[in-house]
Amino acid sequence: MAPYYITTPIYYVNARPHLGHAYSTIVADSLARWHRLLGDDVHFLTGTDEHGLKIQQAADAAGKTPQQFTDEIAPMFAEAWRRLDISHDDFIRTTEARHRAGVEKLLQACWDAGDIELDTYRGLYCVACEAYYTEDDLDGRDCPIHKRPVEQVEEENYFFRLSRFEDRLLDWYARHPGAVVPEHRVNEVTGFIKQGLQDFSVSRKSLTWGIPLPFDSSHVAYVWFDALANYITAIGYGTDESGFATWWPAQHHVIGKDIVRFHNVYWPAMLMSAGIEPPQGWAVGGWLLVGGEKMSKTSGNVVNPLELIDDFGVDGFRYYVLAETPYGNDGDFTYEGLVSRYNSDLANNLGNLAARVATVVGKKCGGLGTAPDPQSALAAHAAEAVAEASRHWDKVQPSRALEATWQLIRATNAHLETHEPWRAEPGPEVDRVMGDALDALRIVTILATPAMPATCREIWRRIGLEGSPDQCRIPVDVRWGLYPAGRTVVKGDPLFPRRTA
Ligand code: ME8
Ligand code: MG
Repeated sequence: MAPYYITTPIYYVNARPHLGHAYSTIVADSLARWHRLLGDDVHFLTGTDEHGLKIQQAADAAGKTPQQFTDEIAPMFAEAWRRLDISHDDFIRTTEARHRAGVEKLLQACWDAGDIELDTYRGLYCVACEAYYTEDDLDGRDCPIHKRPVEQVEEENYFFRLSRFEDRLLDWYARHPGAVVPEHRVNEVTGFIKQGLQDFSVSRKSLTWGIPLPFDSSHVAYVWFDALANYITAIGYGTDESGFATWWPAQHHVIGKDIVRFHNVYWPAMLMSAGIEPPQGWAVGGWLLVGGEKMSKTSGNVVNPLELIDDFGVDGFRYYVLAETPYGNDGDFTYEGLVSRYNSDLANNLGNLAARVATVVGKKCGGLGTAPDPQSALAAHAAEAVAEASRHWDKVQPSRALEATWQLIRATNAHLETHEPWRAEPGPEVDRVMGDALDALRIVTILATPAMPATCREIWRRIGLEGSPDQCRIPVDVRWGLYPAGRTVVKGDPLFPRRTA
């Protein structure tokens, strides 16, 4: 089995999980689930980013110690992911001992390589980003992302000599085309490197909420150096070298476009310095906007995903998030948009197909599923859906993969409308048409499992199949004609009751 190690960003615990965090986590989860269907040996990591000034300030404001504060917020992320059916294998908190051990090892390795040096820093810092900016980056006096004034900072810092890595990074990207998806993002990365890289500070002296440098305990590690290391510390770097060797390099870091510079420039350079291979891929998402603005605690336009699942079900929400916006583009979240996609794709298409099939099998086939026609016109549609969905999942385009899957649903509804089995007398013709629809539905539930795991298990059960679609393998189990006749088909409650805005 090929290893497939996939990660989400680790989220700052200064606030509760919101729709934006849910977005990258659901995308990563769908990829993890797709790769399990392919038979890959999947390891899926998420977690929380708990050190640094931003968390220290949030804890101060709440009148708590940073440890108390992070101990309260981190479980809210774990709980949100449980409710959203996220199938991570591990959850790392940067306050854990295993993480500290790995960060110390990584800092020491970069120090031993001569790539960390002491210097004095004068610069402009945005606490919300936990990042330095140059005058040119700013929007007036404000941080370009948070639109809040940056702070003038001067202190003695250790610096990572990023400037030494320009050629090595450009050379690496030239040798690994396709490592960044969507493709256009790689030009942004290489363009940024070509402008010339500035050394970055890897320590803070004025802060105590962090991991002390192994070579100078009067400084703590800069939060981004600490945070990026989670991807290797969680799998055993510094504590379990065989786990590390099993999973590294990661196949995909799923990230938002706001953290590309850290992930695509700093991180591979840090790894190169320590003699570790860079990750194999990055899947860079756009922002979910609310009313045209990036959702953030600072803007006060935060949408709570857990309220949406009360109205649309976990899978209705997951489907919307994956299907609505091509991955990589910005998307605008609206409640009306959610209602309309839910009604059209789920209530009217998938839900209607499942209900119709069960009703007609009940009335015309004695409630027992029938065999598909090996020569069915739907077989070609199914093969096309499998090929297209596979191609798009492979490029980290869940919206297109689902669109290809929904083509098969539409073709199946059309097949039923052409043959009108509900009007025909019971007999071999009706049996064949219903067998076709059952087999198409079987294939759809496998293909849609990464987006809607619980719903697909339920359809699978209703059409009388054993096991569950997430135990299936692609391509062997999505071949046409495998639906076994003679199984009891049940109707059940509507899967997606229609909603009004
Ligand atoms: O940056 N739309 O954490 P963070 C889409 N701790 N995605 C969004 C989003 C939005 N409106 N808001 C957040 C950090 N995200 C660091 C990461 S990783 C080593 C350290 C998603 O809590 C998006 O993936 O600010 C973004 O990159 C991530 O959440 C940042 O979450
Ligand atoms: Mg952020």
